[in-house]
Amino acid sequence: MQLLQFTENPPLALYVHLPWCVEKCPYCDFNSHGLKGGTLPEGDYIDALLRDVERELPLIWGRSIETIFLGGGTPSLFSPEALDRLFSGLRALLDLRFCREVTLEVNPGTDMATRLSEYRGIGINRVSIGVQSFSDDSLKRLGRIHDHRAALRTIEAAHDAGLDSFNIDLMFGLPEQSAEQAEQDLRQALSLEPPHLSWYQLTLEPNTPFAAHPPVLPEDETMEAMVDAGLGQLAQAGLQQYEVSAFARTGHQCQHNVNYWQFGDYLGIGAGAHGKITLAGESRIERRVRTRHPAAYLRQAGTDDAIEANNVPTNELPFEFMLNALRLTGGFDVPLFTQRTGLPIKVISDTLHRLERDELITWTMTHIQPTKRGARYLNDVISRFLPD
Ligand SMILES: C[S@@+](CC[C@H](N)C(=O)[O-])C[C@H]1O[C@@H](n2cnc3c(N)ncnc32)[C@H](O)[C@@H]1O
Ligand code: SF4
Repeated sequence: MQLLQFTENPPLALYVHLPWCVEKCPYCDFNSHGLKGGTLPEGDYIDALLRDVERELPLIWGRSIETIFLGGGTPSLFSPEALDRLFSGLRALLDLRFCREVTLEVNPGTDMATRLSEYRGIGINRVSIGVQSFSDDSLKRLGRIHDHRAALRTIEAAHDAGLDSFNIDLMFGLPEQSAEQAEQDLRQALSLEPPHLSWYQLTLEPNTPFAAHPPVLPEDETMEAMVDAGLGQLAQAGLQQYEVSAFARTGHQCQHNVNYWQFGDYLGIGAGAHGKITLAGESRIERRVRTRHPAAYLRQAGTDDAIEANNVPTNELPFEFMLNALRLTGGFDVPLFTQRTGLPIKVISDTLHRLERDELITWTMTHIQPTKRGARYLNDVISRFLPD
């Protein structure tokens, strides 16, 4: 068994999961729960999150947090006052002196007109807006709680609040969507000049209402036409692709997500949140998952019952690293593999040689990058790193 050798710990990020939504969308398999008219246990949940983070302190002693991401769910259901209390608590517990990006996911259905500037006032400097489509027909088919006007208002509010880094989430390949409609959605999004855009193909996830009763999705040929046209539109608008689904103007890449893709460390707090922590001194990397259901999490947060911890097996590390790093269009510098996995590059050199020969990656003295063909067949490329 190879011993992991780390020269230093990777950068550390904080993910906070806020698991409630107004209603559950039928395509969504995230750990999110419709409120169904019930009350949001805002104060209790903030208390639970602070207990949760306190419990983690011995693992991250002396390390500072570089980015924070509040995801969900619909984090914008939480009031600026509640999140301000969360941040005060986090500031008392964690070293946030070097924290440069704090993102909040917002849903246009949670009336953002005045709230965005309040969020900005408490230190949130980036929002990710779940628009999905500008077509009211598509939004209805997706079971969204907002129309396109609410999306436009939210984007305008982001500009007005001076949030100079924000993201629009848009999906394509929607039920009964034509290539022209997908193009129109993207045209509308780009006309609003987002510094960042995440562009996802709708997938039918197991155990969702869409999987049980599949809607009519575009044919493969239509889907390909959407991708070809969309990539052209995005490039023309000056948004560079830097990951499979992420496009940004220079300087506006999501630093929090880049840390995931570079196999950095992250503390994950909140119901069902995942974390990954390198314990360099103990030559191991630990994955930590929280109790998934919000009611149980509220009870257990801050105790061992809320946490399931496992070491990442050494023979799975190359696959885990590549699963993330090869998503980056620009690839990664060779030393990053050893810095983040604690393994020498020679443990994967045979696989790298084969991928290079098949023109799926380029591999120089210093850099590894998927080729265009490699990016197209990314799942096959990554699967070559699976342990025997
Ligand atoms: C965790 S969701 C949070 C965003 C926010 N709750 C909302 O929906 O407005 C992040 C993004 O993942 C994308 N997404 C969710 N389910 C998806 C699916 N089945 N297929 C493709 N993209 C999906 C959506 O674009 C969504 O905005
Ligand atoms: S609002 Fe977002 S997180 Fe909530 S159910 Fe819909 S897609 Fe999922």
